[in-house]
Amino acid sequence: MRRLASGMAVVAVMAAAGSAGCAREVLQPVAFNHRLHADNNVPCLTCHPTAATGQGATLPAVSVCRRCHEDVLYEAPEEAKIRLAAESGHALGWVPVFALRPYVYFSHRRHVTLGKVACAACHGDVERRSTPFRMAAGPFSGIRGMGACLRCHDESHSPYAGVDCVDCHR
Ligand code: HEC
Ligand code: HEC
Ligand code: HEC
Ligand code: HEC
Ligand code: HEC
Repeated sequence: MRRLASGMAVVAVMAAAGSAGCAREVLQPVAFNHRLHADNNVPCLTCHPTAATGQGATLPAVSVCRRCHEDVLYEAPEEAKIRLAAESGHALGWVPVFALRPYVYFSHRRHVTLGKVACAACHGDVERRSTPFRMAAGPFSGIRGMGACLRCHDESHSPYAGVDCVDCHR
């Protein structure tokens, strides 16, 4: 353990103070299947391009889906929703599942492009998921989520992976 001793004591106190977090089930507008797209060699960055270049990763607009789903690929009602949304001009309305509170600073570009951290290190085995994300309190929520950030930073050899409160809370 490097540098972390005093910070962890504070964290332990806060964890004991209790912060259950409130997981909320969400229903995504389309029964999106990550595995099927990964098996067809569609890279993560086709649909989440700013995960490499920006602070937030963002969820795809219908126009991204339409690049491949302009014509009917599948006799699936879920696929038909893409065309209906495009024709009506409405957004599909994905519900974000991973969302940090505004008092935490986090940058995808920093982790993915500069730190070379794999998506799976934080999001798990997404390419094997056949159902959409549902829990509106992701693994980075609340005090336990802070623990997940700290664990990796503590083990990281990067001088930029800080463990001081102000590194993330600024
Ligand atoms: C780079 C091309 C590509 C993009 C972009 C793409 N898809 Fe697909 N999608 C495919 C392919 C290929 C299949 C068919 C897979 C097969 O036949 O095995 C498919 C199948 C599907 C299906 C039908 C299978 C099922 O799960 O019922 C749905 C629904 C679907 N895609 C939704 C989407 C949505 C929503 C988006 C945008 C967020 C999207 N796709 C973007 C290539 C793409
Ligand atoms: C170091 C951990 C980490 C890595 C690596 C990481 N993410 Fe994330 N991701 C997060 C966190 C934390 C959030 C919530 C961010 C927020 O609310 O500001 C998030 C949010 C997201 C979202 C939701 C975006 C939105 O607008 O609702 C998507 C999609 C996503 N990540 C995709 C990816 C992809 C694709 C990769 C790999 C190219 C990746 N992430 C790599 C931690 C990570
Ligand atoms: C064809 C488009 C497409 C591809 C390719 C794709 N995603 Fe997604 N991703 C979506 C859509 C649509 C959602 C929202 C629906 C859902 O939860 O499945 C989503 C949701 C997510 C979320 C949850 C974000 C949130 O906060 O709700 C993460 C994390 C994520 N994707 C990571 C990845 C990773 C990692 C890869 C590569 C292994 C990947 N995605 C490939 C379209 C895509
Ligand atoms: C799997 C490992 C890992 C996880 C999990 C992780 N990080 Fe990092 N983080 C890194 C690495 C590696 C760097 C240094 C990147 C570089 O070398 O530029 C870093 C750097 C940072 C920086 C400093 C750079 C900047 O953008 O100012 C912040 C802030 C940060 N992470 C916040 C977070 C937060 C918040 C979380 C949890 C939501 C988190 N990290 C989770 C590995 C991780
Ligand atoms: C590597 C990044 C990182 C560092 C360093 C960090 N935190 Fe956090 N902290 C987070 C994240 C992520 C969350 C959860 C945010 C959320 O729920 O959206 C969090 C949540 C918290 C919360 C709210 C807990 C709750 O459940 O409501 C407090 C209080 C807090 N941190 C204090 C601290 C203190 C004090 C330090 C220094 C000892 C510290 N943090 C260091 C990332 C960090």
